Amino acid sequence: MPYTVPKLTDFSAATLDGAARELLSAVDQESAAIDSENDWKIFRDRWVARKNGLLTQVNELWLKAAPAPNKRDVGREVNLLRSVVEQRVELAHKRLLFKKATASVIVHPGIEVPAAEFEEYAKRVALTAQRLDITLPGIRRPIGVEHPVIKTMNEIIGVFRNLGYSVEEGPEIETDYYNFEALNFPPNHPARDTQDTLFIAGQESKPLRDRLLLRTHTSPVQIRTMQKMQPPVRVVCPGKVHRNDAPDATHSPIFHQVEGLAVDTNITFCDLKGTLDHAMKALFGSSVKTRFYPSFFPFTEPSADVQISCIFCDGKGVRDGAPCRNCKASGWIELLGCGMVDPNVYGFVDYDPAKVSGFAFGMGVERIAILKYGVDDIQLFFQGDVRFLEQFG
Ligand code: DAH
Repeated sequence: MPYTVPKLTDFSAATLDGAARELLSAVDQESAAIDSENDWKIFRDRWVARKNGLLTQVNELWLKAAPAPNKRDVGREVNLLRSVVEQRVELAHKRLLFKKATASVIVHPGIEVPAAEFEEYAKRVALTAQRLDITLPGIRRPIGVEHPVIKTMNEIIGVFRNLGYSVEEGPEIETDYYNFEALNFPPNHPARDTQDTLFIAGQESKPLRDRLLLRTHTSPVQIRTMQKMQPPVRVVCPGKVHRNDAPDATHSPIFHQVEGLAVDTNITFCDLKGTLDHAMKALFGSSVKTRFYPSFFPFTEPSADVQISCIFCDGKGVRDGAPCRNCKASGWIELLGCGMVDPNVYGFVDYDPAKVSGFAFGMGVERIAILKYGVDDIQLFFQGDVRFLEQFG
């Protein structure tokens, strides 16, 4: 029950004394409970507010109500009480300020900071949080690695760059002319059937040579190169090619090739053999042997398939006492096509077949990567599984 100023039944010194004690003990009790500036203001107003503070009530209920003969004594007592209460109010404020100044702040279990130093401490913490320690190792972000197909492609290109070849590229969407006709595949020639072609729809109204298709090989870049430069020509042409093949472990409708073309005066089949033998040794190791096996391509004459001695059984055809599965026990693995550029092709690019000769070759990049890295499924190159790809980092 909060203290209220009682009405006095009589104004004797004893009654007055008792009432005064009661009032002072209430002041002391209330001032002891003050914990904040706000508490103190409420306390101050409750006791000393001019309008309806408890001291004003004391004035009303004790002094004004006192009969004339007691007025002097009651007046003295009330004045005394006023000064004591006012003192207490002031004291309570001082105590509060002192308490604040000496209080401490628990900033962390086990870490207590004096209130006065708290601001300093907070500043220090903020500065520490912002501090940049340049001796710490940085955040490593995985930057990825070259895709095994691109890596192999670059390796092949590198081998030929070292022989003085430059790099040419051509479009993936080609015309029938560049993909077939200029390469000596006449319209309706059965050799076209060996390249399961993806044709762009709605081209029927155009002449056959202008119809668009997805290039089935990089050989059209040979024609584009010979159209824009005169012999001597030594180029490799890397790129993506497309065939209407169902995907399986050894087929993919999209794959990559590196084409090669060298045209100059007096280039012979010997140059072709020497160049490719060197390239195969550079790619698979100096112990591989090469073999040129008669074949047919419309744009080369004579044509050959290049075989390398099997890198799994060292060309023996037998591994661990069993027939080698990689070369079907033959000791040889077929790797690429090549040949001497057919004189008919020069007719399409205004080269004089009587003056120049050259060779060409084309190899599948995935096929070479599969052999080099022992990959057993071509689809792995296109599935984007990081666990597979990061092995080539
Ligand atoms: N273009 C042929 C293919 O994709 C590969 C080829 C064979 C390219 C012989 C050549 C070559 O340049 O001379 O099957």
